Amino acid sequence: MQENSTHNAKHHSQRTMIVAGSHRIGSYSSALAHVVGKRLTDRGQEVDLIEVSTLDLPMHNPIDHRNPEGSADPRVRDFCHRVRQADSFVWITPIYHGSYSSGLKKIIDHVNISLMENKPVAVMAHGGGRFSGSAIDHLRAVGVNLHAQVINVAVATNTTDFTETETMPILTSETIIARIDRAIEQLLH
Ligand SMILES: Cc1cc2nc3c(=O)[nH]c(=O)nc-3n(C[C@H](O)[C@H](O)[C@H](O)COP(=O)(O)O)c2cc1C
Repeated sequence: MQENSTHNAKHHSQRTMIVAGSHRIGSYSSALAHVVGKRLTDRGQEVDLIEVSTLDLPMHNPIDHRNPEGSADPRVRDFCHRVRQADSFVWITPIYHGSYSSGLKKIIDHVNISLMENKPVAVMAHGGGRFSGSAIDHLRAVGVNLHAQVINVAVATNTTDFTETETMPILTSETIIARIDRAIEQLLH
């Protein structure tokens, strides 16, 4: 799966935007995002995967808040168009200081309620430790404030859920993969 691109599945029914929130390449968050994307495309869904570390977006300008799709900046207009096209979202964050990444928030700040209202959002977090609850709670609160439908199955991973390779880690925990499928079920229904 390529980064920052739209993937067409054979049987289009819904489009999900997956945002991988790590500030580095080859991250666990990206590895998790790729598995979520693959599980979705295997079900005939369309996926738009965004890596915050490579997406070219400026700092949010509050002047755009009411109408981000009418921003003077074409990068903002393009991103908001992608958000408008998405039926559901998966926000994946590395845990930074017990919360979500600033890169993920930088992207989310570009959208407003009109782009997110009633759309399902799944939240997922990867951390160096086992205590991911606060990051998930913080991200849920952001979704609720955007009037999205934050689903109740969250996914939290740790390095022990992955197998290292020379390029990027591979998610190998069957328990986590089963939980991803439960989240996808909620996201799509
Ligand atoms: C600035 C910063 C703060 C971090 N804070 C936490 C933390 O509070 N809890 C935790 O479990 N891990 C923390 N970590 C470790 C990261 O979660 C860990 O390195 C993880 O692999 C990052 O995800 P990524 O591989 O998707 O980039 C922190 C890492 C950084 C860079």
